[in-house]
Amino acid sequence: MSFVKDVDALVTAVKQSKKYADTCEETVRQLAAEALRRHKKPKQALKAVRAQLHSIMAPYLGDPLYEEASRRLTAVFATQDPSQIKAACYDILQEHLSTQERLPILETFYREIFRITGPPATLLDLACGLNPLAFPWMGLPTNTRFYAYDIHEPRIAFINDYFSLQGLEPLARVQDIALHFPQEQGDVALFLKEMPRFMRNYGNLGRPLLESLNVRWLVISFPTVSTHGGRSLINRYRDFMQQLIAGHNWLMTELLFASELLFCVQKQGK
Ligand SMILES: C[S@@+](CC[C@H](N)C(=O)[O-])C[C@H]1O[C@@H](n2cnc3c(N)ncnc32)[C@H](O)[C@@H]1O
Repeated sequence: MSFVKDVDALVTAVKQSKKYADTCEETVRQLAAEALRRHKKPKQALKAVRAQLHSIMAPYLGDPLYEEASRRLTAVFATQDPSQIKAACYDILQEHLSTQERLPILETFYREIFRITGPPATLLDLACGLNPLAFPWMGLPTNTRFYAYDIHEPRIAFINDYFSLQGLEPLARVQDIALHFPQEQGDVALFLKEMPRFMRNYGNLGRPLLESLNVRWLVISFPTVSTHGGRSLINRYRDFMQQLIAGHNWLMTELLFASELLFCVQKQGK
């Protein structure tokens, strides 16, 4: 078989598996080609792709049942009752560990961020997970242009359903941000609690990603404690951020929440 056919067969095998059927095909194809260059046997290549997808997609962080969640949102938006809408978003945010951990700080989280950056007219959310459902806590108008990027297809379809119900333009997209750095022009780009995994999965792409983003403000966050053992990560990530932007005359402001360490970085000249 030719290399291209081998890659096709491997992509098909991955897309047929229950766990990764919903992953962006371009992501799977890239991983499949890399795996086949390293492994002669298709079985070993399949195992390698699945291991990488486990690290990239982090399915262990959780997901709602998307169809059920969409039905619930349709029903609560029909009531036009903001408190019911917020309650439904809150419940859905609980279904993914990253957003679940943010719920106790959500009332002040975006207020504090936008106090520094100013309220964005255009917001980018990279590797968004379910975070766009936090829109009711952002205090932004519905003419905000809210771009959200992820490689999980049903999650993005669900977020676009939510955006439409909320009166926002459906600007969520299935896009592998490691293969295609987002190029939309914006005021603020959120990259929340994903930088360490991104560097682990894609080597040193973190810095070029930040450099290429066409925004005035980068908002990058990290967990304050390790998942296993509860060790403080604050100093480690402070040092990491200093190194990540070293050599740029970008201004960095730190915000420390109970569960999240966050940096607002003003890109000069943007
Ligand atoms: C930890 S979760 C979500 C974190 C979210 N930013 C938050 O703080 O609520 C990481 C997300 O990144 C997505 N992801 C991982 N690698 C990606 C890539 N290369 N391009 C786009 N999305 C990616 C995963 O599918 C997953 O939804």
